[in-house]
Amino acid sequence: MNNLLNTTKKIVLIYKNRALVALAVISVLVTTPMLHAQPGTAPSAPEPPSGIANKALVPFKSQGVAAANPLAANAGFRMLKQGGSAVDAAIATQLVLGLVEPQSSGIGGGAFALVHDAKQKILRTYDGRETAPAAATPSRFIGADGLPMKFYDAAISGKSVGTPGTVALLQAMHKRHGKLPWKTLFAPAIELAENGFAVSPRLREVVRVDRFLKDDPAARAYFYDAAGEPWPVGHVLKNPAYAATLRAIAKSGAKAFYEGEIADAMVAAVGEYADESKRGDLTRTDLANYRVVEREPICFNYRGRKICSMPAPSSGGVAIAQMLAALERFPMAQWGANSLDSVHAMAEAGRLAYADRAQYLADPEFVEFPKGLLDPGYMQARGALIDMGKSMKRAEPGTPPGLKLAHGADPTAVLTGTSHISIVDKFGNAVSMTTTIEDIFGARKMVRGFLLNNELTDFSMRFEENGKPVANRVQAGKRPRSTMAPIVVYDARGNPDIIAGSPGGSAIANYVMKTLVAMIDWNLDPQAAIALPNLGSRNGPTELEKGTPLEALKPELEARGHSVSIIDFTSGVQALQRTRDAKGRAIGWRGGADPRREGHVAGD
Ligand code: DON
Repeated sequence: MNNLLNTTKKIVLIYKNRALVALAVISVLVTTPMLHAQPGTAPSAPEPPSGIANKALVPFKSQGVAAANPLAANAGFRMLKQGGSAVDAAIATQLVLGLVEPQSSGIGGGAFALVHDAKQKILRTYDGRETAPAAATPSRFIGADGLPMKFYDAAISGKSVGTPGTVALLQAMHKRHGKLPWKTLFAPAIELAENGFAVSPRLREVVRVDRFLKDDPAARAYFYDAAGEPWPVGHVLKNPAYAATLRAIAKSGAKAFYEGEIADAMVAAVGEYADESKRGDLTRTDLANYRVVEREPICFNYRGRKICSMPAPSSGGVAIAQMLAALERFPMAQWGANSLDSVHAMAEAGRLAYADRAQYLADPEFVEFPKGLLDPGYMQARGALIDMGKSMKRAEPGTPPGLKLAHGADPTAVLTGTSHISIVDKFGNAVSMTTTIEDIFGARKMVRGFLLNNELTDFSMRFEENGKPVANRVQAGKRPRSTMAPIVVYDARGNPDIIAGSPGGSAIANYVMKTLVAMIDWNLDPQAAIALPNLGSRNGPTELEKGTPLEALKPELEARGHSVSIIDFTSGVQALQRTRDAKGRAIGWRGGADPRREGHVAGD
């Protein structure tokens, strides 16, 4: 107990420091121009920063939505207030996100959703990941010179566009879990698209710094004024083409997207590049054949809590399970946030997990998922490789029990928009959904008011490594490996206790792991947990968030053998947590949104 009190005091101090730093950053931002990442060049920043805004924890009683934009969160909340389910709210939220945060997710992309069904006491996962067209081959991203393409040569091309899965996913979830009529869920997005919405600071900033968006005539006409300048913050932007697309899907269902005029428009857009080498091969048949897959969630224990996430083709849940298993033997609560030991242990756990991720994770319908990766004995043995005095610098993948096939490691440095939605309804249901068009603005190709994804760049560009096929190589109909890790943490009675997730490309597993450790070990509320500086290792350098107290740890980490990289680490965590009375009885909820983006929690 004393330990706990000491830890709590320590955390309060650390958090105060963090709040001071956050305030300092805000004051710098209001007096000086924003810090800019170059999306085309920054290898480790999937989405550029747009400043840090302090956010307050939001308590609410029984129903709430946390999403990356207030208009989107409010649309979902409106559905809850009309008696809708968490899934109804997720659909309305997603449709508005595709309008107001088009850089990150939308109907031209894919998503994973965890749905806790309170009546049946069951967690279902829906895989709406994009698929490679039937014509795709393993050498898709090998250039004329025989070498893997540069990331943006592949991303800004029709070749990177996978068959979108989000619309089918929304419909599949609604069929089973919806309470409100399908059409009703489209109203907020259609209203905003027709009447217009105010361009947010982040949207303006990401349009301003993007090097490619203007090259697409439809995107140029929408995101910029006649002089080619991005619309200013507050400009009322209307998207009648998106409204028309939504009206068609509202009326006829997902069919209107996967067949008919909208499908034709997507196929044409993917093939219309003047440069033949950039033409994609998505067909009407690929679209008509798209299927959502329901999968068994992966669940594991951490300090007595049951945590569930998405299985393969996501690598995020597996990586988080492995990292937490490695951390469990350490006194994380005692070490506290932002301490040298915690950062060392978290980075080393990341090295081990990301080494396995590169070696083994891919679409399970093409490459058998080595179940041994989640074997508690295996995970503990991997964790035992952590030496608290010295960094392993680079981890080799392990050999999980029962491994059948040898693959080469995926050597792709994933450069990688994505968004996370956390929702609970008054019926006890929950949705944790991470949704993406991959890179910011996806393939920078706008069709009928929405952007097409570049998700296929999540495949390995190389198909072979040291003579062995790479598990995550491109194959027809396959889903590219993801790191998206929507999370539901359960309480002892089997009710959802924490709903969380984040965008962030390959760093997602680290962002989510930090948030969980902060809430479970350091007893922080969701807002404080999300605001803590980001850190970790993706089996390269140890990465620390720029402008945070973690920077001060660099010399001591280097003394332990780490190579340290200080970077913008723009997570977008949205998390909800049940609140309890002194006896541990559930009394309500509280939610937090990432200060690094424009997230918002709406609930009552
Ligand atoms: O599925 C994945 O893991 C990636 N395509 C997610 C990309 C992402 O999070 C980019 N953004 N912040």
